[in-house]
Amino acid sequence: MKTEPLVLGIETSCDETGVGIVRGHTLLADEIASSVDEHARYGGVVPEVASRAHFEAMVPTMQRALDKAGVTLSDVDAIAVTAGPGLAGALLVGVAAAKAYALAAGKPIYGVNHLAAHVAVDTLEHGALPEPAIALLVSGGHSSLLRVDDLAAGVTPLGATIDDAAGEAFDKVARLLGLPFPGGPPIDKAAREGQIAIPFPRGLTGPRDQAEHRFDFSFSGLKTAVARWVEARERGGEPVPVNDVAASFQEAVCDVLTAKAIDACVTNGIDTLVIGGGVAANSRIRSMAQERAEKHGITVRVPRPKLCTDNGAMVAALGSHLVAAGAAPGRLGLPSDSAMPITLVTA
Ligand code: KG4
Ligand code: ZN
Repeated sequence: MKTEPLVLGIETSCDETGVGIVRGHTLLADEIASSVDEHARYGGVVPEVASRAHFEAMVPTMQRALDKAGVTLSDVDAIAVTAGPGLAGALLVGVAAAKAYALAAGKPIYGVNHLAAHVAVDTLEHGALPEPAIALLVSGGHSSLLRVDDLAAGVTPLGATIDDAAGEAFDKVARLLGLPFPGGPPIDKAAREGQIAIPFPRGLTGPRDQAEHRFDFSFSGLKTAVARWVEARERGGEPVPVNDVAASFQEAVCDVLTAKAIDACVTNGIDTLVIGGGVAANSRIRSMAQERAEKHGITVRVPRPKLCTDNGAMVAALGSHLVAAGAAPGRLGLPSDSAMPITLVTA
């Protein structure tokens, strides 16, 4: 019996240095070094700080992943690396490292799309992805609805945010509530203690948006509405009910995301919804998507929270999918592309 391919994945598109190792759909190692603490005091990721941290963390993270999986680089069948989208300098460190390892060990290299990797990671938890599927991709930099007919060949964008990404909205609202960066986890936690009491706006859900923006998102108006609401409280000398604001804001985001994702499934006649990206770690989006999907006979697939945020395993998972599909590897001179379009799965 032919054993499934052993694929190593390297992720450096933002502030996590990730090295993951998979065999087929089986996760063997998922090692991460994060520079998030170094960015926290700036309230956002500082590109130069992230690049230097990747440079310092790459070799030790690689070693930990190989040790954890109990393999050596010569056992690996292919190396996959995030080629984009992401921070230009951060991507360069990962791509340069992947090329060096590929050249030294004589292995094929795949430069892959970070967003497609957020979709592919679900295969490590739930097995092969039924196609076609609808994917809702919600991270710090992106919010998109995609139709996935063949993940190895590319995806079809149905809609995306026209301003802030969902994770960015969590980060900005956390900041104005005095919660730490990144804002998703503390808002998720605060919301559990709060009441959904404030009717914050649901962007692009009006009747007039149906024609042009049915599957698009907008979160900047929501962020402004939260800021205005908090300012009014402070002006009136009243305390800000942080937990209630967090719960009401989170509800507004999750309501729009899940409603549009289910609408995309129903409209396209597709009964699988996969949710990926850091915001998919949110407890409310997970429960709401589940509840709403059940009513339409749609199966929701969301990987466990640790696989939703950036990691190397997701890159290895997509690499493994590409190898299994017989996709051709990239050139050793493959570029990194900070603005890599979602329609391209490999660089
Ligand atoms: O996918 P990811 O790790 O990095 C990017 O590719 O952007 O996503 C990071 C984003 C951050 O904005 C963070 O606040 C958000 O994911 N996030 C969450 C949660 N955990 C992380 N948002 C809401 N609820 C969470 N539990
Ligand atoms: Zn990401």
